[in-house]
Amino acid sequence: MITIKTDVLIIGAGLAGLYTALNITTDKQVDIIVKEDLNDTNSRLAQGGIAGELDITPKNIESHINDTLTAGSFLNKKAAVELLVTEAKENIEHLMTLGVPFDTNDTGDILLTKEGGHSTRRVLHSGGDSTGKEIMTALRTRAKVQKNIHIHTRTTALDLIYDANTCRGVQSINQDNESMILLSNQTVVATGGIGNIYGATTNSTSATADGIGLSYRANVDIRHMEFIQFHPTAFHNEVSEYRQKFLISEAVRGEGATLLNADGERFMEKYDDRLELAPRDKVSQAIYREMYDTWTDHVYLDCRHLGKDFLENRFPTIYQHCLEAGYDIATELLPVSPVEHFSVGGITTNLDGKTSMDRLYACGECASNGVHGANRLASNSLLECIVFGKRISERINEQPALEDEFDPSINVNNPRNYNYIPMKKKLAMIMDEYVGIVRSKDGLTFAKKQIIALEKKLLNYPNNNKYYYEALNMVQTAKLIIKHSLARKTSIGCHYRID
Ligand code: SIN
Repeated sequence: MITIKTDVLIIGAGLAGLYTALNITTDKQVDIIVKEDLNDTNSRLAQGGIAGELDITPKNIESHINDTLTAGSFLNKKAAVELLVTEAKENIEHLMTLGVPFDTNDTGDILLTKEGGHSTRRVLHSGGDSTGKEIMTALRTRAKVQKNIHIHTRTTALDLIYDANTCRGVQSINQDNESMILLSNQTVVATGGIGNIYGATTNSTSATADGIGLSYRANVDIRHMEFIQFHPTAFHNEVSEYRQKFLISEAVRGEGATLLNADGERFMEKYDDRLELAPRDKVSQAIYREMYDTWTDHVYLDCRHLGKDFLENRFPTIYQHCLEAGYDIATELLPVSPVEHFSVGGITTNLDGKTSMDRLYACGECASNGVHGANRLASNSLLECIVFGKRISERINEQPALEDEFDPSINVNNPRNYNYIPMKKKLAMIMDEYVGIVRSKDGLTFAKKQIIALEKKLLNYPNNNKYYYEALNMVQTAKLIIKHSLARKTSIGCHYRID
């Protein structure tokens, strides 16, 4: 068994993890563990952009705060939203100094776009529609050369190590199935999303609810898991057998694309005055209704009026991907459907990212600091990672060096080489059918029984293996989503009850 002692342990190397690491003072040793490699993160897949007011007039700040609260159905924590919006500028400017090339016009002014729920253009983008990739490339380059940052790729966090209510680190396993114990003075969970709990998601295949699962098993507070955001427009590719679906950024609608149903009719005016630029919960629920009414599993995105030149230049990744898949979006309608996109709830934190466990922080999609309410405003997620990552690093930087010894006394069994794929498939079928965009008490109750049976099977036959822990994290997170969905009996935001 390998044992490493460090000042700061970060689980996950998406934007939340890397930005936090880069803001820790260089006198502290930072160890980052990442399940796959640095290219495999949800942050890298973000297309549309990062929201943030650079022109910080009181009117602009107020407007971003109001849009965030409105999209979240006012279930947000207002103090968290105020921090998110007011600390956006300094952190976005810091991204620029770290080398992120945001798109500009010929005279060097930052270009801004609009997405659903935003009342003005305030979303910065990079590479047209590859904002996440550009940001992550810049941060990865920095992190790799910073001497106090040590990145362990293909290393899976299994369980938190804790003593009463104090986090001491994490038990993990590397790609050679060797156990690694990482003991840390401060630990940050930044594991990203939960997408693979469902049959179709925009998330990376590695998004298996790991941070929520390991926090749940350590009795750390978790909230608002009923709010699962479905992105309205994933490319509806019937031949794909994979869960991961290609995202068609909301920025495409922000630039004027419209939605048509199976009869070729524009339909959003029936549901919301903001039409295709209503917040995501409203658009996904409208699409669900249209698909239901027409016995069809997709609707269409109409970009034809935007023109080939504009589409090719403004959305190079999307244009090319669709072309390679057989659709020229400059001349053809594109089939799209809503798929799981973002976990709005997560590990409960205060305004400094601190969880209910001592020495444990959470940041990014796996955290719930109160900014999103019942539905996240588009492009506030990358912003959340940097604003709260910075706040967490500041709190950690204030901590004195700790010298306390801790003996974790951990016994590990030899891992068995099982892949748990049948169980993951069954889980996704249950979640799609009963815990999707539309929910009912009967469906949720049925799903709960099935999920508890899956959890029991896993707990009865523990296995010190990456895939076992992924399955356990997914099943236990699904259990929380159902529990919280049953507890919230009325519809709000992403949680839509038909009963
Ligand atoms: C998109 O580009 O539509 C996704 C951005 C986000 O999830 O905020």
